[in-house]
Amino acid sequence: MSIYSIWNNKGGVGKSYLTFQVAAEYARIHPEKRVLVIDLCPQANSSSMLLGGMQAGEANLNRIHLGVPRLTVSGYIEERIFSPYVNPKSGARFALQVHQFNFPVPSNLFLVVGDEQLEIQASRVNAAAFPGPQDAWRIVHTWISDLIQDIVTSWDNADHTVFIDCNPSFSIYTELALSASDRLIVPFSADGSSKRAVRAVLALIYGVTRQPGQQQSEFHTNSQRFRMAQPTLYMYVGNRLTQYNQASGAAFKSVVNEIGEEIFAVWQTNSNLFCVHPSGAPAPTSKRAFKQMFQYEVNDANTASVVSGTLGVPISGLSSGRTQVLGKDVVVNQSQLDKQVPNIRELAAAIE
Ligand SMILES: Nc1ncnc2c1ncn2[C@@H]1O[C@H](COP(=O)(O)OP(=O)(O)OP(=O)(O)O)[C@@H](O)[C@H]1O
Ligand SMILES: [Mg+2]
Repeated sequence: MSIYSIWNNKGGVGKSYLTFQVAAEYARIHPEKRVLVIDLCPQANSSSMLLGGMQAGEANLNRIHLGVPRLTVSGYIEERIFSPYVNPKSGARFALQVHQFNFPVPSNLFLVVGDEQLEIQASRVNAAAFPGPQDAWRIVHTWISDLIQDIVTSWDNADHTVFIDCNPSFSIYTELALSASDRLIVPFSADGSSKRAVRAVLALIYGVTRQPGQQQSEFHTNSQRFRMAQPTLYMYVGNRLTQYNQASGAAFKSVVNEIGEEIFAVWQTNSNLFCVHPSGAPAPTSKRAFKQMFQYEVNDANTASVVSGTLGVPISGLSSGRTQVLGKDVVVNQSQLDKQVPNIRELAAAIE
């Protein structure tokens, strides 16, 4: 019954792609559980993939966005803007069963659809969190928890796991996602700017800054003031690693390890910010054990990744061979699948 946010302050690192792949794989290996994806990104990329990809998924998204009532995350947020401090308990109807739209996704996976309207709503959500009653900030920051609670109650409290895909910006809707979640997955790409992005995550959420006295984020100070728990770091994922040859493979590995060093240093001083897993496991006592617990890698699967996302077929269920993508013949090689499928399986298996 854990709630994971997938977030990095940097864009394009694979948050939505990993949300799609990991949630689908997790649902496949846990048929006894209900899996909920909440798409809190106005770009709605993970919704598009889950609902069938570039053609079918986009058509489904359009239909849902035009529906009355608007059964998207913005539909729910709109209700909360009208009733900010009194929970309308109306969230259950916003979870759609993805399988009804996109057959390859397991039937135990549900989605609160992303919506570009979030961008327009943001200023009104901020206004609701600002003056109002004394603890307006706290109450607004429980909206997504309320939404999850409504959905889970409608499931008769069935065993469930939630994944929230976030926008890279540290905007109000990202704050709502973080406040609702108890664990954090941080994907990053193995390039020069990733180290800074990971530092930004640590500073914005946990107030871990490199210089003493540096200004803290309002999210951090208010979370502390209102005693709201922040999600603990569950894993960081070097994503889209490309292995053209041994040299490029080694180069990516060294960037991932460099970021691992940075995060390990935080562990040494602030181990309370991390979620030791699986539950009951002893806390790691060496750098090697730390990396084994928290550091993951996902390779680029080239054409196979593109086909998976474009058709909305989770990669672990994708077959090799010839297929049609947007009217063009393409070939998915088994070797491409072999690069990434084991990574996605390992990641999903490490999630509780
Ligand atoms: N492991 C991977 N292998 C191949 N392609 C990938 C992989 N991860 C992500 N991609 C591709 O990289 C691009 C960016 O990924 P994605 O949209 O998931 O990033 P994001 O972090 O969600 O971006 P944003 O910050 O804009 O929300 C997409 O085209 C996606 O399909
Ligand atoms: Mg995204």
